[in-house]
Amino acid sequence: MKTIITGASGQYGSLAVQKLLDAMPAEDLILITRSPAKLQHLADLGAQVRFGDFDDPDSLLSAFQGGEKMLLISGTRVGARVVQHKAAIDAAAAAGVRHISYTSVVGISPENPAKVVADHLPTEQMIKASGMEWTILRDQHYTDAMVLNMGPNFIQSGTWLSSTAGGKEAPVWREDCVNSAVAVLTGEGHENKTYNITGPELLDFREFAGLLSSLTGHKVDYVETDDAGMYAMFDAMGIPREPVDDQSVKGITWNSDDMVTFEQAIREGFFRVISDDVEKLTGMKPRSVRQMIEENLKILAPA
Ligand SMILES: NC(=O)c1ccc[n+]([C@@H]2O[C@H](COP(=O)([O-])OP(=O)(O)OC[C@H]3O[C@@H](n4cnc5c(N)ncnc54)[C@H](OP(=O)(O)O)[C@@H]3O)[C@@H](O)[C@H]2O)c1
Repeated sequence: MKTIITGASGQYGSLAVQKLLDAMPAEDLILITRSPAKLQHLADLGAQVRFGDFDDPDSLLSAFQGGEKMLLISGTRVGARVVQHKAAIDAAAAAGVRHISYTSVVGISPENPAKVVADHLPTEQMIKASGMEWTILRDQHYTDAMVLNMGPNFIQSGTWLSSTAGGKEAPVWREDCVNSAVAVLTGEGHENKTYNITGPELLDFREFAGLLSSLTGHKVDYVETDDAGMYAMFDAMGIPREPVDDQSVKGITWNSDDMVTFEQAIREGFFRVISDDVEKLTGMKPRSVRQMIEENLKILAPA
């Protein structure tokens, strides 16, 4: 069964490929990238590495030929991805892909103010209307983003600035999201199902900051601010307000319109979603925020 992975060179995609190689021959993988040279090491193993660009629909139609299943890893232009995703879904249907799996976000509703939802909600609808079988993987906020990307900042400044006002979410390790996706791609019975891929506990950012302090030994004070205060912090970090392709800051291709509206949605309770779908899909309990901090003390609390 030939399986297409978009975003195969990214953090999520490369981990997915690594795990899929344990479950299927490299020859069954069709890996999509705008820069095939980046994936030469996988081509050398036998994978089919093909040029594909979400902004170039014709490239996708040829790139997806022969694929039966596809993992559409959402693009990085948060707030402006619907056209890109439409191109990918149309090309997959036209190329004869039978089953498409998609990385969405939890807490989807038309009322949710988060920019990510404005991308994911129409994308989910287009997938369901495409005629292909589908599986929606609604990922919670990555634990990695707050522990590994933001954590060193919080520790250095001693402050965790947030506008979430006690709103809770259930952060999930990116690797647990990937394990869930791999289980869907390699397993059976996931047709036309939606899963909430979450961590094991609901917590607010004051509790998160408390864990960071107690486990690293560096005091991090949780400080409440408003949306303007959040924009000021992200501006100071050099994060663009609107998406800029391929510009990564602290390892993330992000923009502050995304982050500020994400915090708003946490504040308003839209991301208060917890589920046992990771364990149901993978047979393993999702890992906690505490575990990620403990496993990364060398980065977070250098001697
Ligand atoms: N739930 C959360 O908290 C959370 C946090 C962060 C990200 N995410 C989601 O997870 C996704 C993957 O994240 P990541 O960390 O793996 O991102 P990443 O490391 O920045 O990788 C992005 C990938 O997207 C591909 N890409 C970007 N623009 C493209 C285009 N125009 N056409 C085709 N491919 C394109 C890149 O491929 P090439 O450069 O090789 O073409 C790359 O493989 C994100 O896009 C986002 O939707 C979720």
